[in-house]
Amino acid sequence: MNTLDEIVARALAEFVAIGEPAKLEEAKAQYLGKAGLLTEQLKNLGKLPPEEKKTAGAAINAAKNQVEEALNARREALKRAALEAQLSAEALDVTLPGRGRSRGGLHPVTRSLDRIEQLFRTIGFEVADGPEIEGDWHNFTALNTPEKHPARSMHDTFYIQAEDGSVQEDVLLRTHTSPVQVRYMQAHVEKYKHEATMPEIRIIAPGRVYRVDSDATHSPMFHQVEGLWIGEKVSFADLRGVLADFLRCFFESDDLNLRFRPSFFPFTEPSAEIDMAFMSGPNKGRWLEIGGCGMVHPNVLRHGGIDPEKYIGFAFGMGPDRLTMLRYGIDDLRLFFDGDLRFLSQFK
Ligand code: PHE
Repeated sequence: MNTLDEIVARALAEFVAIGEPAKLEEAKAQYLGKAGLLTEQLKNLGKLPPEEKKTAGAAINAAKNQVEEALNARREALKRAALEAQLSAEALDVTLPGRGRSRGGLHPVTRSLDRIEQLFRTIGFEVADGPEIEGDWHNFTALNTPEKHPARSMHDTFYIQAEDGSVQEDVLLRTHTSPVQVRYMQAHVEKYKHEATMPEIRIIAPGRVYRVDSDATHSPMFHQVEGLWIGEKVSFADLRGVLADFLRCFFESDDLNLRFRPSFFPFTEPSAEIDMAFMSGPNKGRWLEIGGCGMVHPNVLRHGGIDPEKYIGFAFGMGPDRLTMLRYGIDDLRLFFDGDLRFLSQFK
């Protein structure tokens, strides 16, 4: 037969060793349940002589209290441990800085193109568009570029392959935005064919162009902005004025110099290369080529359906990638097209 002290000692040892609340309640039944050890002791009280009953009863009750106390203490301890485990599993450190949301931004060249469009709109130029996959006729022939011109060679132009692998020499990736000149003229003439007079054409045509070229200042894909102004009295002086004004606004500087170097393009006559120089700042005095221009060749007007005896105008083609490099002081064109976030995120 167990003595009370043994029962209590066993219960206490058993309780502390238990880690789960359900097991603890099972263990409780062994001592305090209907057939529990202490309950048995109480039942046996009746068999004792009356003079022993009182002390024996008090001793059993004291033992019961001890066991109950230990049980409650263990219940509390298990509850606290469960809570602590939950808290550490769901740890939330409110002192950490917020992660925030990373913001996207426009590509530096896109920013330049937006800016160019905005500035030309203020002087009444519309923004026109044309396909990047062009026909040989629009890209070369209509622009007065002869059959044997070097720009038409395989080294300079991406021709499109047919399904059987043969090169389709009449389909290509446009090598410049100039084909938009002729496309726009044709559409413009069509639009006003029933009117007594045809309004002037004043457009810019920004977009991607392609050439077989790749180094620090050339990429096989790059951007151009074509400009075209056709009217009855448009002169080379207007060309100079428009470009000078645009560049001063674009670079936010009156300290710019502009130079027209005589050059040749089949689709303009006379033709010039446009150079600009900053008169102050880190690039002071350095001349940089930013595009080509000239008075639209009569044959180009004819291909556009416009009478060269009545209309005259200028065209230019500028490189917005170059303008962006100058504006932000970037010296490698390839950075624009590598997609490196370390570079791009500087423009957010
Ligand atoms: N299309 C020419 C080029 O890509 C630039 C140009 C456009 C020159 C319009 C004259 C007039 O080099």
